[in-house]
Amino acid sequence: SANGLKAGKTRNIIEKMEDSGKNCIIFYGSQTGTAEDYASRLAKEGKSRFGLETMVADLEDYDYDNLDSIPSDKVVMFVLATYGEGEPTDNAVDFYEFITGEDVSFSSGNEPALDNLNYVAFGLGNNTYEHYNSMVRNVNAALEKLGAHRIGEAGEGDDGAGTMEEDFLAWKDPMWEALQKKMGLEEREAVYEPVFGIVERDNLTKDSPEVYLGEPNKMHLDGVPKGPFNAHNPYIAPIAKSYELFSVKDRNCLHMEVDISGSNLTYQTGDHIAVWPTNPGKEVDLFMDILDLTHKRHDVISVKALEPTAKVPFPTPTTYDAIVRYHMEICSPVSRQFIATLAAFAPDEQVKAEMTKLGGDKDYFHEKVNLHHLNIARVLQRVSGGKKWSNVPFSALIEGITKLQPRYYSISSSSLEHPKTIAITAVVEKQILPGREDDPFMGVATNYLLALKEKQNGEPNPTPFGLTYEIMGPRNRYTGIHVPVHVRHSNFKLPSDPSKPIICIGPGTGVAPMRGFIRERMRQAQNGEAVGKTILFFGCRKRTEDFLYEKEWEEAKEVLSDKFELVTAFSREGAKKVYVQHRLKERAKEINELLEKKAYFYVCGDAANMAREVNNVLAQILAEQRGIPEAKAEEIVKNMRAANQYQEDVWS
Ligand code: FAD
Ligand code: 2AM
Repeated sequence: SANGLKAGKTRNIIEKMEDSGKNCIIFYGSQTGTAEDYASRLAKEGKSRFGLETMVADLEDYDYDNLDSIPSDKVVMFVLATYGEGEPTDNAVDFYEFITGEDVSFSSGNEPALDNLNYVAFGLGNNTYEHYNSMVRNVNAALEKLGAHRIGEAGEGDDGAGTMEEDFLAWKDPMWEALQKKMGLEEREAVYEPVFGIVERDNLTKDSPEVYLGEPNKMHLDGVPKGPFNAHNPYIAPIAKSYELFSVKDRNCLHMEVDISGSNLTYQTGDHIAVWPTNPGKEVDLFMDILDLTHKRHDVISVKALEPTAKVPFPTPTTYDAIVRYHMEICSPVSRQFIATLAAFAPDEQVKAEMTKLGGDKDYFHEKVNLHHLNIARVLQRVSGGKKWSNVPFSALIEGITKLQPRYYSISSSSLEHPKTIAITAVVEKQILPGREDDPFMGVATNYLLALKEKQNGEPNPTPFGLTYEIMGPRNRYTGIHVPVHVRHSNFKLPSDPSKPIICIGPGTGVAPMRGFIRERMRQAQNGEAVGKTILFFGCRKRTEDFLYEKEWEEAKEVLSDKFELVTAFSREGAKKVYVQHRLKERAKEINELLEKKAYFYVCGDAANMAREVNNVLAQILAEQRGIPEAKAEEIVKNMRAANQYQEDVWS
């Protein structure tokens, strides 16, 4: 699309390659940053091991109709994530539609069209979803059909099995070997070459007005933040209201309402809201400490790309503190490849040997790092016994650590009822892990939201693990508590005809969009519209602990009367676990009748187990009630999905 066009930038990839002297383009289709990371890692490795002139490219930034003219001594890599129900990531939609299109047409009339194109492909997927890795599979098939030549296998990483990183590592070595043969590349001793140069700006202090201190909105430094608000530029939304939904002390679930009336943001019931988190002070401190950055954390630096195709991923001049706090995913699991890279900068030979072992031995890494959920600072801390890592170039950290990512939440309000307020229902991530009893794993975004809620309501943090945050950066110009957000439109939608019946399966926080749907139906009924049967299957541990929105369902009953029904599954009240799918099965007859009346069927929440089990139970219900073989029933469920009668909003 022309929207991505920036002044002075070319959308012509061949021109770009020629101008910058590149011979290896790595295109990525990324939603949450992982594919983008893998693309960067391939670029680095190609350069340092084989002297390839690599360049990472966002699929959204280029046109594709000249792929048939890429010289055959070059190589193009595709690192493609599959999103949701087999969809391309937002930045890959245009490419996907182009390349898989019926009559894809290229600028030169060659036959076969892509005979010139040497490519490499890796996909990121999740096997708990129906369309596992469909992006890489379909793109690969399309490229083959167009006559392109693949080098090595098309790799597939599986987030569902938790093996993404290892799948990637296992795929890339044979790929490099094949590429080496094909292009006649010589392997050389890998040397670290920084992508970014760090310039200390002694003439500036963190109080200088042009220094970026983490202000999340692009225009913030210039005064008032400005739109358009999107995945590149959040809106700093005031929090209108926030409260706890659980009635137990040791777990938290937040209801938070953000006010978008000061922006031109809009949403529709069933959409997603993205929250841009901030790292907690404790984690920033640990990171600074072990990397020996504490003494200069507030020094002002400029970061410059040392090569023309690299992009500095944050505004500068800035400070080390701002970069780490607002731009690096420092709490997430560290990759084995990055550990191997950091070995070169170890404080002594013994530490270096241990890092090399961790980097090279998959099982050892699993036992020492993965099992304990260690992030980068904790690994460095453990391996060196607290000895500081003073030799790590800051550029290596910018390159090796994922950009801090926004987190998505299923909007739990109705846009009909509240067009300018968006509700979030989020369970706070905290895991006590073996060997880390006094240092629990704390989710980044949800603990940030918890802190915002506490701040807003003037509440003390209730747990000994409570985290503190620099909210909105030290130059916070807002009065009141705010959170940076943007909206992502989804296909999870109510039937356009409200008289159609709906069946909602939403255990735990999976209830979020169902609350939006039900509130929408309540409002429709109040407006005099005929609203169809609305059944909600909700599951949680105990009625007295985590029964979300209990009071609101009573309200729904009052408004919708016999058109609304709540079916509960409390899993930890009796001796046997009762789940939403068990309740669904008990209602087999009624469910089948509603589906025959073209009821819409919605599932939200855990993708790993619940969503799949619900799918299977539904097929069993149809088989049993209609007296058809299960294979046939499964086929019907598939068709329901294809026709959008069965919709999922699931995450893992
Ligand atoms: P994170 O810090 O991102 O951690 C999340 C998980 O990652 C941890 O539990 C852990 O398993 C793993 N992890 C992180 N760091 C490490 C480490 N160092 N080692 C090993 N493992 C690690 N959530 C809701 O509560 N409500 C919703 O309505 C909702 N809707 C969603 C809709 C969509 C479309 C998607 C994609 C997700 C949705 N989620 C929802 C999930 C939400 O986006 C977040 O993933 C969730 O809140 C956790 O975020 P966090 O930053 O607190 O945790
Ligand atoms: P449990 O934790 O007691 O096993 C919300 O998290 C609810 O979903 C809880 O009651 C939880 O039960 C339940 N749950 C856990 N696994 C599930 C599954 N595979 N299918 C449906 N519900 C599940």
